[in-house]
Amino acid sequence: MIQLQNVSKVYRTDRIETTALEDVNLTIEEGAFVSVMGPSGCGKTTLLNLMGLLDEPSQGTVHLDGTPINGGSEKHKARIRNRTAGFIFQNFHLISDLKVVDNVEIPLLYRSMSAKERRQAALQALDKVGLASRVHHYPTQLSGGQQQRVAIARAIVGRPKVLLADEPTGNLDSHNGEEVMGILETLNKEENTTIVMVTHDDRLGQRTQRTIRMFDGRQVH
Ligand SMILES: Nc1ncnc2c1ncn2[C@@H]1O[C@H](COP(=O)(O)OP(=O)(O)O)[C@@H](O)[C@H]1O
Ligand SMILES: [Mg+2]
Repeated sequence: MIQLQNVSKVYRTDRIETTALEDVNLTIEEGAFVSVMGPSGCGKTTLLNLMGLLDEPSQGTVHLDGTPINGGSEKHKARIRNRTAGFIFQNFHLISDLKVVDNVEIPLLYRSMSAKERRQAALQALDKVGLASRVHHYPTQLSGGQQQRVAIARAIVGRPKVLLADEPTGNLDSHNGEEVMGILETLNKEENTTIVMVTHDDRLGQRTQRTIRMFDGRQVH
């Protein structure tokens, strides 16, 4: 489902060059639930961004859902990204002046669907995360755990094959973190969604099928 071959990523600013990833090789099979762990700054977010085509490698090749991505136009990549991958972030990234249901519909705006179909899909996704009764609330009227569940609904509304979650429980207490983890596990089991989750929580890491450990931009075996 996701393949990285000899992938390196170097960030260049005026004076400093940072090697965020160095010669990473990995394959993530369809239907896998994989965690990514390692200290702050070791390249976890960079890795996820490359997998989800939010960024380009400096060297090497990224395949997402069988398609090699290198060199494609922005439009082509945006299209594959929108259909294939859903993103979940530590800070939820919801739009505060949109209602819950409108937040969830956002990824569908780039598809040819009627307003009615979009609404139906959003309500279904919100139902899956247990928030059917909160669709007309605004994000600030919800708890952190509920906001993250809205973000999950938004990530899955377009039925992506892959979910990329960057410390999805990092801002949640253990109860809400458990709820989010439970939803991800259900999506993985029941819908065969491939999930890559960055976490600092060993107990959550142990519940995934495999842990990719990173240190200083490299995989640690
Ligand atoms: N846009 C950027 N420009 C310059 N350096 C960056 C950028 N993004 C990340 N970095 C650097 O790349 C390294 C890896 O960052 P990141 O992938 O965010 O690590 P992690 O998610 O594991 O904390 C860090 O040293 C960070 O400072
Ligand atoms: Mg990070």
